[in-house]
Amino acid sequence: MAGNVVVLGIQWGDEGKGKIVDLLTESAHAVVRFQGGHNAGHTLVIGGTKTVLHLVPSGILRPEVRCFVGNGVVVAPDALLAEINELELAGIDARSRIFISSACPVILPSHVALDQARERARGSNAIGTTGRGIGPAYEDKAARRGLRMGELLDLPTCTSHVLELVEYHNFLLRKLLNSDALDAAAVVAQCQMWGEALSPMIVDVASELESILKAGEAVLFEGAQGTLLDIDHGTYPFVTSSNTTAGAAASGSGVGPRTLSRVVGVVKAYTTRVGSGPFPTELFDSVGGHLASKGHELGATTGRPRRCGWFDAVAARRACWLNSVNSLCVTKLDVLDGVPQVQICTGYRLDGALLETPPIDSRALSRCEPVYEVMPGWEQPTAGAKRLSDLPTAARCYLERLATLLEAPLDIVSTGPDRQDTMVLRNPFGQ
Ligand code: IMP
Repeated sequence: MAGNVVVLGIQWGDEGKGKIVDLLTESAHAVVRFQGGHNAGHTLVIGGTKTVLHLVPSGILRPEVRCFVGNGVVVAPDALLAEINELELAGIDARSRIFISSACPVILPSHVALDQARERARGSNAIGTTGRGIGPAYEDKAARRGLRMGELLDLPTCTSHVLELVEYHNFLLRKLLNSDALDAAAVVAQCQMWGEALSPMIVDVASELESILKAGEAVLFEGAQGTLLDIDHGTYPFVTSSNTTAGAAASGSGVGPRTLSRVVGVVKAYTTRVGSGPFPTELFDSVGGHLASKGHELGATTGRPRRCGWFDAVAARRACWLNSVNSLCVTKLDVLDGVPQVQICTGYRLDGALLETPPIDSRALSRCEPVYEVMPGWEQPTAGAKRLSDLPTAARCYLERLATLLEAPLDIVSTGPDRQDTMVLRNPFGQ
């Protein structure tokens, strides 16, 4: 065994990480979410049955795998309980296999109200958040006034903390954002209910992971969103409020960086983005329409249509070195079947100069013109291929070109939503 594996997206999220995590957990004892919250939407299809997860780690469908929610994740207890109930209705024993860090910040209803009121106030400059309260919950964490999951277990402390916090949120909602205030007593009652329902699952995740790692058991760290949505390295301010890059797998779960041996960068064979912000290779023509409809490009969390475009190797190459990606997974190759010519963006033109690395500033990025390399497309279906040699030559050339441009070995190719529509050329958990 090579050790422990991080799986993360190297575009703007929705690369199909959930399916890959589910597949690779066959080789893992534990799966850990380390950032984000229920803004994520991970769709798994097994034997034709679809499960969409938002907060619960994608290892939950493997009965022997333990699922951890690390300290870097912001937790909406009502969303978590709803997801657990749904899994249990489907016959999955979720409650006994999910462990939540007592250090996770709690998302309160007032965080949701603030997120939505701020987006309304931004008008045409809205970020296009998922409206789930993610940003305000991370703000409170950084400001050192947030409520943490462990506090739900101590009612008197929790009550006074929540009253103080909701009073502050109500001040912002009323005075600054011209919105309705929340009933603080009702929020306290919800916290009490959440504490009772979740108490057996609230643990010291860092210490649990230390025992697992000491025993030599393999751990998979599951990223959410994607590198280009990282709060520091993404297209700021059109980003999410957490670090989505590989370093966060350590800080967001409580393990040291030497624990992470393989980093699998998951990329879609083309590019999509939900919400606002620059997107140099976005297509507004019939090819964009084809990618959206054939790829079913609707957000798994909000149902919003995703913007679609050609593969952007300039942005993806930067994402690969930001994460030290040493294993590449390309998903949704089948969506390109039947496209007569495929294009890969290999440079940006900005003010007459040719750039090989994206500008940091979003305003400059929004002025970049993509420079494309054109490759022949392929007619034959790629779905169900079991070996690279089963693929049409043009599809194989396209994959090889992506791996060369991203300077990472191609380990996994996905050609459909089902667990079985996957070629594992090298298992990232292997030698
Ligand atoms: P927030 O994370 O809800 O604050 O939203 C900030 C930005 O991240 C918006 O553009 C969202 O559309 C985007 N975003 C958040 N979660 C996901 C995801 O799981 N997939 C794709 N985009 C996401």
